[in-house]
Order: sequence, then structure tokens, then C-alpha cells
Amino acid sequence: MEILVAKTSGFCFGVNRSIKISNELLNSGKKICTLGKIIHNPLVVKELSDKGAKIINHPCMLPDNNTLIIRSHGVSNEIFNYIKNNAIDYVDATCPFVKKIHQIVKNHSKKCDVLLAAGDKNHPEMIGIRSYFYGESYVFENLNDLKKTIENHPQIKEKKLLIVSQTTFSVEKWKKCVNFAKLYLTNALIFDTICKTTILRQKEAEELSKKCDLVIVIGGKESSNTRKLYDICSKNTETILVESENDIPKKICNNKKRIGIIAGASTPISLVNEIKNYLEMILWRV
Ligand code: F3S
Repeated sequence: MEILVAKTSGFCFGVNRSIKISNELLNSGKKICTLGKIIHNPLVVKELSDKGAKIINHPCMLPDNNTLIIRSHGVSNEIFNYIKNNAIDYVDATCPFVKKIHQIVKNHSKKCDVLLAAGDKNHPEMIGIRSYFYGESYVFENLNDLKKTIENHPQIKEKKLLIVSQTTFSVEKWKKCVNFAKLYLTNALIFDTICKTTILRQKEAEELSKKCDLVIVIGGKESSNTRKLYDICSKNTETILVESENDIPKKICNNKKRIGIIAGASTPISLVNEIKNYLEMILWRV
């Protein structure tokens, strides 16, 4: 019986940065509020809340003498302008990879007529990305969705298009969409904006799941990148998504030869180690 832990497990660069910024402010005695949950991980959110961090949904709700933290997903252009115009005390922890997409979209807003963005239209990162584009924009979740968007809006094909993706989009789906766009949307400018962390984690999820009889994906159930890892692994082997060891069914490890552990970008390495120790304890008892 063997347990393999993915090398990419633990916070990604952007999440690590936002948590570090929040902790440094709290440790220096500042009162902070995050705009939405800092990351999609309930344990980390609770840890910060225990230290005094509060969550608000709009900068207008910021209490006096508090600093607002913009989380790694970033915010929309409107919210950012509101913060600046109202002289709100803030720290911008938007991940630089997300900022880069905002910049690409903004820079091409006047040169391109339509933005086509791959991802989840309700995700805060996507809401932010679209807000920096002045013209029409559409979100697609996969190749079929992209084709449907073109069918429903045939005028798009004649216009200048800008195509980007959410940083955590599926690499496999993105490749299919790009191949299609290169053939049928020849007037499109395409920017590959899936972040490096996402690419490496998805690659490792694919490899790990092919070697294991069970993969445990650790991460928040609302986390987009964690969900993608789950989707990749579950195509190859039995896979469960857990937020903590309490979500692991007692008998699931029975008769397994090799169990893989992989974690989303917002899962702390301490939780990965805890779950590994827990599994070792179960396996030792079997
Ligand atoms: Fe940034 Fe990529 Fe993490 S965009 S927040 S490094 S998943």
C-alpha cells in the first residue's frame, strides 16, 4: 500500500501572497476586511476570521479604521474605481497573473469588438475580466459552448475578436477551443492566459490518477481549480473531493494498492500533511 502526494500540492503563488499580506496586516495590529472570502477554503477563511479579519461584499460596507483587502481573484473595474474614488484604505492582493489578463483585455478594448472568454461566467475572476472590456463579451465553458455562442451570434465571425481564458480553465478544453478558433475565427487574437500553476497541477493530476486506484482531491468545494483537478482525476480512476479528513468515507481505502493525494491552489500544505497522516493511520490499522 502506497500513498503518493502530488508535488504541486500547497498554496499557489497568488493565494500565498494574499494570505501573507492579510496575516502581516493583522499581526501589525490593523483591522482588515476582505472583499468576499479571501480564498475558497473554509479552514483558511476561519483561521483568518479567528484572528479578526471580517468579510464584506462591497467596499461601501468597510467600517472606519479598517483596511480593505482585494483578494487574488481581483475585482471589477467598477469596484476598483469605487475604491479609488472614495479614498478607501486598501491593499491590492490581486494575483499578478489575473492583473495581466485585466491589462490585456483593457489594452485590446478599443482594437477588438468582441471578447470571448473561456471560464465560468459567475466566477468573481471572470466578472472582473469582462469588466475591463468596453464592447460585447461572451463566456464559454467548452468547445460546444463556444460553437453555440457563434451560432447564436453569427455576426461575431465578421468582427475583430479577442479570446482569453480564466487562469484556472481546463488546459485540455482550452486546446480544443483554440484549435477551433484558429480554423474558424481567423480574425481572432488569442492570448493563452491559463496560469502556470494551473497547467502544472492539471498535468500532475492526469499523471497521478493514471497510477492510482484512488485519488483524494483536497480543496474547497467552491474552488474552480480544485473542481478541475477532480474532473481530470475522475476520468481515470476513483476520485473523491474532500475539504477535510471528515469527508473521507471510512472504508474507501480498503483494497487499494496506491492512493494519490492532490490539492487545489487554495489548500494549505498543512492540511495535505494532516490528511496524509490520517490515511497512514487508517492503512496501518487495516
Ligand atoms: Fe494566481 Fe494562478 Fe494562483 S492565477 S491565484 S497563481 S491559480
